[in-house]
Amino acid sequence: MNGEAMKRIAVLASGRGSNFQAVIDAIAIGEIPAVCCGLVTDNPSAYAITRAEEAGIPVFIVDFTACPSKEAYEQALLAVLRSLGADLYILAGYMRIVGTGIVHELKGRMINIHPALLPSFPGLHAQRQALDYGVKVSGCTVHFVDEGMDTGPIIVQTCVPVMEGDDEESLAGRILEKEHRCLPAAIRLFCEGRLEIRDRRVFILPKPGNPSVGSRRIP
Ligand code: GAR
Repeated sequence: MNGEAMKRIAVLASGRGSNFQAVIDAIAIGEIPAVCCGLVTDNPSAYAITRAEEAGIPVFIVDFTACPSKEAYEQALLAVLRSLGADLYILAGYMRIVGTGIVHELKGRMINIHPALLPSFPGLHAQRQALDYGVKVSGCTVHFVDEGMDTGPIIVQTCVPVMEGDDEESLAGRILEKEHRCLPAAIRLFCEGRLEIRDRRVFILPKPGNPSVGSRRIP
């Protein structure tokens, strides 16, 4: 990275963690110039924990159900996030709304992956929402986190066709394949210092020494 220090990234995940695995794999092959300093989860039985352990990544469990209130949970979570001192915090299948205190503190340093083409179908069950609406194209979005639900500035989007025979599972699977490419691509751009937010638009800056690549298709 031109002699620059490696970025520190932390991942928040609530369940299966296949996007987390895509990030681990992208780091391993040098596609993301970063070290993963922690997996943070609200769910003590998340499979993402096993993935972290296998990759030698420290695990931090902030068990939502063991906290007396949402405020207490948010405070405990913020303490863990602060202690990690990451450059970037990645919501990769983290299934809770992040409180405004954390959003404000980490503005511009927290991103989320969502399985739809935002601003369509925010929130839970995005793939089912897309099927129920009858769209012909859906996809995934990586965006910065702001105070709203899935409303922050968009970094990367990729579309996938909706097939006539699709059910929620088949559509989710097709979108997930794209997620596994989009998320590492967005993280890489962040780590390379190539994302600039102006108002609510995210501009991808050219690579130093190669001014033409700023507008290339990503991923
Ligand atoms: C992914 O499809 C992700 O986009 C979605 O949950 C899944 C997690 O899968 N996130 C949301 O719906 C957030 N609103 P994974 O645990 O295998 O990465």
